[in-house]
Amino acid sequence: MSGLFITFEGIDGVGKSTQADLLEKYLVSLGNQVVRTLEPGGTDLGHDIRQLLLHRKGHVAPRAEALLYAADRAHHVATKIRPALAEGKVVISDRYLDSSVAYQGAGRALTEEDVRHISIWAAEGLLPKLTVLLDLDAASARARRNNTGQEPDRLEQEKIEFFEAARQAFLAMASAEPERFLVVDANQTVEQMQAQIRARVNTLLG
Ligand code: TYD
Repeated sequence: MSGLFITFEGIDGVGKSTQADLLEKYLVSLGNQVVRTLEPGGTDLGHDIRQLLLHRKGHVAPRAEALLYAADRAHHVATKIRPALAEGKVVISDRYLDSSVAYQGAGRALTEEDVRHISIWAAEGLLPKLTVLLDLDAASARARRNNTGQEPDRLEQEKIEFFEAARQAFLAMASAEPERFLVVDANQTVEQMQAQIRARVNTLLG
């Protein structure tokens, strides 16, 4: 039996974890075993890599940054995601390899093609069955983040143009792979968004 792998994507501040929480509750209520995880930081090793990526002071060379995300992903897939899928569980990850393509590829000095290539290599080719892309313009997403009162991490300090470029990269990936992606307008209410997500997930449940 093989499980179901679902990822949530979108720029910072669109409400991914709220939607992932609600989907997790729904799937558990239907009797599924659900593993809820995230990138970067879904494993013990990943937790340390996350600290380096988000909280270490000073410049990180773009290739080094891309490889750190890829290292986090490689360990995450090998030790947590694949074993859970092999046990027939549903895995819900807050971010996965599309985040690397969008952030390291579109926003920085590397090509999307190179970043996709190392990400897929790191993941040994594992792609989600469904990727929910929560779409919101970068200015609105930033306003929502500012409302949380949390200190911005290293990536959140990037300029609005960086996030807008990442958003456009996500949208382009969604148009290229419509069977994998569900694009949800994040200007809607939490309930409206969740209803669209559940409708799509229902089509995937056996
Ligand atoms: P996090 O606090 O988890 O952001 P969010 O709550 O919005 O998911 O921080 C993760 C940050 O790392 C976020 O700014 C996106 C970035 N990121 C990349 O740049 N590349 C990647 O491959 C991944 C997984 C995340």
